[in-house]
Amino acid sequence: MELLRFTVFVLLLSFLHGVATAGSPAASSFPQFDALFSFGNSYADTGNFVLQSAGLPAIPFNNSPYGETFFRRPTGRPSDGRLMIDFIAEAVGLPFLQPFLSKQPQNFSRGANFAIVGGTALDEGFFLRRNASSVPPYRGSLRVQIGWFRKLKRSLCNATTGGGCLARSLFMVGELGSNDYGYILAGGKNLQEAKSFVPDVVTAICRGVERLVLEGARYVVVSGTPPAGCMPMALAKYGESAANTTTKEHKREYDPRTACLRRLNGLAQYHNWMLRESIRRMRVKYPAATLIYADFYKPVAQLVRRPAKFDPE
Ligand SMILES: *[C@@H]1O[C@H](CO)[C@@H](O)[C@H](O)[C@H]1NC(C)=O
Ligand SMILES: *[C@@H]1O[C@H](CO)[C@@H](O)[C@H](O)[C@H]1NC(C)=O
Ligand SMILES: *[C@@H]1O[C@H](CO)[C@@H](O)[C@H](O)[C@H]1NC(C)=O
Ligand SMILES: *[C@@H]1O[C@H](CO)[C@@H](O)[C@H](O)[C@H]1NC(C)=O
Repeated sequence: MELLRFTVFVLLLSFLHGVATAGSPAASSFPQFDALFSFGNSYADTGNFVLQSAGLPAIPFNNSPYGETFFRRPTGRPSDGRLMIDFIAEAVGLPFLQPFLSKQPQNFSRGANFAIVGGTALDEGFFLRRNASSVPPYRGSLRVQIGWFRKLKRSLCNATTGGGCLARSLFMVGELGSNDYGYILAGGKNLQEAKSFVPDVVTAICRGVERLVLEGARYVVVSGTPPAGCMPMALAKYGESAANTTTKEHKREYDPRTACLRRLNGLAQYHNWMLRESIRRMRVKYPAATLIYADFYKPVAQLVRRPAKFDPE
C-alpha cells in the first residue's frame, strides 16, 4: 500500500513537471484553475462505478480495505487511499472530485468526475462490430463520459456565466487504453492483433480531447498508459505460460531488469508513442488550447526497476 502511495507521488510530480515544461507558451502563465473535470477508468474513479452498479452483488470497492487509509470508509474509489486525481485536485487547490453519478444533489461548480472503473476509449459498439472482445459489461466509454459532461455543462455554463465558462478549468483525460486492450485480449485476440487496434484506441482518445476543446476546454492533460506488463494482474494472467518455458524463452518473455512482461510493455509503449505524436499534431490544430501529454509509463517503470529508491524508510 505504501508502494502505491509512492507511485501516486511520483506520478503527481511528473504531472506537475509536465505542466511546467509543456513547451507551450501558455504553460508559463498557467492560471489558477477554478474547476477540475476528470475522465477515465479505475485509476481516477471516485465513485461512479459503485453508483452505477448499485444493487449488483459483490462490488468489492464498497468494502474494506477500500478507503481505509485515508477516508476511513469506502468511498467508491478502487483504492485503500487517495487516487492520483485526488492529489492533483489538492495540488491545484480544488476540492476532491465528486462522482457525476452521485445520487445526492451536488454542487459541481468546482469540478466533477466522470471516470468509471472499466472505462474505455472505444465504444461498446466498436468491440461488438470488430468481434474483438468480451464486451464491457457497462456503459462508460469516453464518449459516454463526455455525454455526461455535456449534460452538466448545460447547468454550469449559460448566458450568466458567459462564453469563457471553461477557460480556467483543468481537464484530465485518462488513463484510457489499458481496458480496451484488456477486453481485446480477453476476447481471444493475441498481442500482435491487439497491437493493430492501437490506432483505433488513440484516435478515440484524441476525438474525445477534440470534443472537449470544441466544448471550450483550454487546458487538457492526456495521460498515457502505464507499463501493462508490470501490473500484478497481467503477470498473473499472462505470465504463467511465459514462466513455464526454457531459460532462453523466459529471457525473451521477461525484461531481466524489471521482471515485467516485455511484449505487453511493448504494446503500452507503442500506444504511448502514437498518443504523444497525435497530441503534438492536435496542438498545431488548436493553438488556443494547452494540450499536455502526461507520462504514466516512466515513473511506474522506474518504481518497478528500483523500488528501494522510493522506500520511505
Ligand atoms: C456552488 O459552489 C460555488 C463555489 O463554491 C458557489 O459560488 C455557488 O453559490 C454554489 N452554488 C449553489 C447552488 O450552492
Ligand atoms: C466472432 O467470434 C466467434 C468466436 O471466436 C466466431 O465463432 C465468429 O465466427 C466470429 N464472427 C465474426 C463476424 O467474425
Ligand atoms: C446559469 O448558471 C448559473 C450558475 O451555475 C445557475 O445558477 C443558473 O440557474 C443558470 N441559469 C439557467 C437559465 O440555466
Ligand atoms: C508446465 O510444464 C510442465 C512440465 O513440462 C507441464 O507438466 C505443465 O503442464 C506445464 N504447465 C502449463 C500451464 O503449461
